[in-house]
Amino acid sequence: MTPQTDPCCDSDLMRSLGMATGHCAVVGLQWGDEGKGKVVDLMASQLDLVVRYNGGANAGHSVQVGDKRYALHLIPSGILSPDAINVLGNGVVIDPAQLVKEIIGLRAEGITIGDNLKISDRAHLVFEYHKVQDVLYDQALAKAMGGTAAIGTTGRGIGPCYADKALRSMAIRVGDLLDEAGLRAKLQRIVAVKNTVLAALAKQCDQPFTPFDADTVLQETLKLAEILRPHICDSAHLLHTAIDAGKRLLFEGANATLLDIDHGTYPFVTSSNCSSLGVHTGTGIPGHKVTNVLGIVKAYQTRVGGGPMPTELNDATAERIREVGKEYGTTTGRPRRVGWLDLVALKYAAQLSGATGIALMLMDVLSGLPELKLCTSYQHNGKTLANFPADANVLDTLTPVYETVPGFEENIEECKRFDDLPDNAHAYIQRIEQFVGTHVVMVSVGPRRDQTVLRNV
Ligand code: GDP
Ligand code: IMO
Ligand code: MG
Repeated sequence: MTPQTDPCCDSDLMRSLGMATGHCAVVGLQWGDEGKGKVVDLMASQLDLVVRYNGGANAGHSVQVGDKRYALHLIPSGILSPDAINVLGNGVVIDPAQLVKEIIGLRAEGITIGDNLKISDRAHLVFEYHKVQDVLYDQALAKAMGGTAAIGTTGRGIGPCYADKALRSMAIRVGDLLDEAGLRAKLQRIVAVKNTVLAALAKQCDQPFTPFDADTVLQETLKLAEILRPHICDSAHLLHTAIDAGKRLLFEGANATLLDIDHGTYPFVTSSNCSSLGVHTGTGIPGHKVTNVLGIVKAYQTRVGGGPMPTELNDATAERIREVGKEYGTTTGRPRRVGWLDLVALKYAAQLSGATGIALMLMDVLSGLPELKLCTSYQHNGKTLANFPADANVLDTLTPVYETVPGFEENIEECKRFDDLPDNAHAYIQRIEQFVGTHVVMVSVGPRRDQTVLRNV
């Protein structure tokens, strides 16, 4: 059994998005949870391969098909389209236990997972000790700084795994799952070092710590390896072969541009290049091959975890948006912080990720608000900031300057055409386009596939 395709996803889709040819990327332009999963699911039936290039199980992509909701963390959202091949590229950090859990869960829902799932032999593996380290680091920092320094990670071991990748001698890759003797030797060496580090960290956090046993870790990992073995391949070779054969690729971003380790609100970011800049190192496909980037943007702003958020609201409007938009994390269940749409941050992110079009998501959530605000500049120490600042302290202390525009009362959840949207929604969209310099090519008015308004049909 495979999920039904709803009426919106026909061949008009790619033409309307301006993506009738070439390879494309779907990338979040805020702090995550913009609705990337929904858009990838819509597009996947029109493309041949869906490729994750970064992040790991810190991502949570919810996809609604009819009455069913799927929560995907590692497996690309193309898995719900029966003909798409889904690839976890070399830039992804893979928790084998989580991946196997996801495979089993999806199969139980009737989703076919076989030759349609490929895993790069060059991707790095997340182990339980990475997750323990992740949580202890955040706790140790918070304790040392009186609670103010915590990044508020998802606790999925992402930072420690990427750190070990950079350290090299502490890392284990997917390809190592196929070599039992090599894996045993690596785990014995690495687990001993990890136990030393984790014991010290746990002590600093006043937490109990039971050392990991290398042989137990090995035996558990080998069981998972048997399930993953048929999916492991040289993914860069697979992708280049597919491109040469005329297949079309869609690169699925996890996390989002303002969480990019180099260009995001550092240090309150994740540990990979989650802007579209990461596509190339994370898959082995060179830059010029990806001609279209669809920037996914929520009609307002949300953020989970610590870090600056200039337009954050802590009032009844925030409560209303959080409840109507169901703004609770897919991965950790944490309430998302909510604010007005920040056009300064959006323009910066659209430039970095090279957005050729914008999909404006969760527009329905704004309906009923008497007025809407758009942040169009920042004030800091009496000066207007023209660009998005690098310094998290500046971002935390600046004052957003807003333009206020009238809201729309109408319920837009069943709108099918762009012209059906209320005038005030049109004006809001036009202001975004004008400021950012990128066209809004899609407006999403609900989580379902058929709650999607295409601009150019
Ligand atoms: P992702 O991480 O970018 O894939 O986004 P998430 O799945 O974490 O969060 C987006 C949430 O919004 C999901 O629960 C979606 O089902 C939901 N969603 C997507 N588009 C819309 C929309 O247009 N309107 C509403 N109300 N919900 C939406
Ligand atoms: P998707 O793909 C929202 C945030 C975490 C934390 C910071 C670092 O669903 O949009 P990490 O565990 O990555 O070290 O946490 O980044 N974060 C996300 N927030 N959506 C995501 O992914 C996120 N991935 C990471 O909340 O603040
Ligand atoms: Mg998410």
